[in-house]
Amino acid sequence: MSNVSEDILKKVKGWPGYVDAKYGFRNHWYPVMFSKDIAEGEVKKIKLLGEPLLVKRIDGKLHCIKDRCLHRGVPLSEKLDCMTKDTITCWYHAWTYKWETGELCDIMTNPSSAQIGRHKLKVYPVEEAKNCVFIFLGDGEPHPLAHDTPPEFLDDGLEILGIAREIKSNWRLGVENGFDPSHIYIHKDAILVQGNDLVLPLGFAPGEDRSKQTKVIADDSEGGRKGVYDLIGDASVPVFEGTIDGELVREGNYGSTLVANNISIWLPGVLKVNPWPNPDMMQFEWYVPVDENTHIYFQTLGKKCETEEEIKAYEHSFDHKWKKMALMGFNDDDIWAREAMVDFYADDKGWVNEILFEPDEAIVEWRKLADKHNKGIQTLENIKG
Ligand code: FES
Ligand SMILES: [Fe+2]
Repeated sequence: MSNVSEDILKKVKGWPGYVDAKYGFRNHWYPVMFSKDIAEGEVKKIKLLGEPLLVKRIDGKLHCIKDRCLHRGVPLSEKLDCMTKDTITCWYHAWTYKWETGELCDIMTNPSSAQIGRHKLKVYPVEEAKNCVFIFLGDGEPHPLAHDTPPEFLDDGLEILGIAREIKSNWRLGVENGFDPSHIYIHKDAILVQGNDLVLPLGFAPGEDRSKQTKVIADDSEGGRKGVYDLIGDASVPVFEGTIDGELVREGNYGSTLVANNISIWLPGVLKVNPWPNPDMMQFEWYVPVDENTHIYFQTLGKKCETEEEIKAYEHSFDHKWKKMALMGFNDDDIWAREAMVDFYADDKGWVNEILFEPDEAIVEWRKLADKHNKGIQTLENIKG
């Protein structure tokens, strides 16, 4: 059963699976929080691709279970009841499950029940890397986390710091805003542009050879990752002079700091901008599907550090400069832009009625790649099951 009407899916010929993926792509790894945000013994309630989940740290290791009792379907989180370290008990009739396996190991209200040992709650693999918590929202053995993270993100010596917040738009509007070559127009007045003296044109006109605008990675040449590079720097003509009726009305910023000459988008929906917001840093940001109307904007900045002192200095500059100026100041513009797209795409007709122009080629390549190489489309059956 599709998430979107057959009529719409028929009309979007090149990427129906992408349009159908309003709850995201199943069988992929997603970051859901930072490691520091869940202490030993703590339980966190989250929602990922429409599924209610609970995460607990036990002896340092994180475990993830579906937040729905198998007996009568109530959320276990309605009233958390953890009587032992490695189990969770439903508040209603005391069905009790193991965090590690999801196994129904006891029922305190009826200790001899024939149901004991015969059922398992859904559990999902969890990994921590670069101070981030990743969950594999899928079935069966997960592929390596590296396949769902951009090149370099997991490299030794790259320190990752970031913030995460909930945005009221579908996750695809997040991806398509971040990877949109001509959306830099919305950033022209950001403090970061003047503050860091960035080279920032108003937009990019495609060069003569349109085939060079993007590079699609659909094979194993990038370690199993699937993504699209936007070759702005090489193949486009930056536009610094904005004219209307032949009159110059606005100019881009002719700064001295060259950034963002390598931008790429990767399954399951993570952008890499290198370098950014400074020549010695890069940004990785995920648009994590929470449900059809919400995503977590998971923003991280990476910087190579060799010594403890360098890490400390980076943490200081992150807290006092980059978080405010780049992740918030600059990217706050992206947030209102995404929210402004919501109404048009809300009933799925926007995917048919939109009129794209040349720079959107990059977005089209992403849609085609995602349609073809995703590992599964999340459905309402998955969510309810
Ligand atoms: S609903 Fe959970 S034990 Fe009955
Ligand atoms: Fe942006």
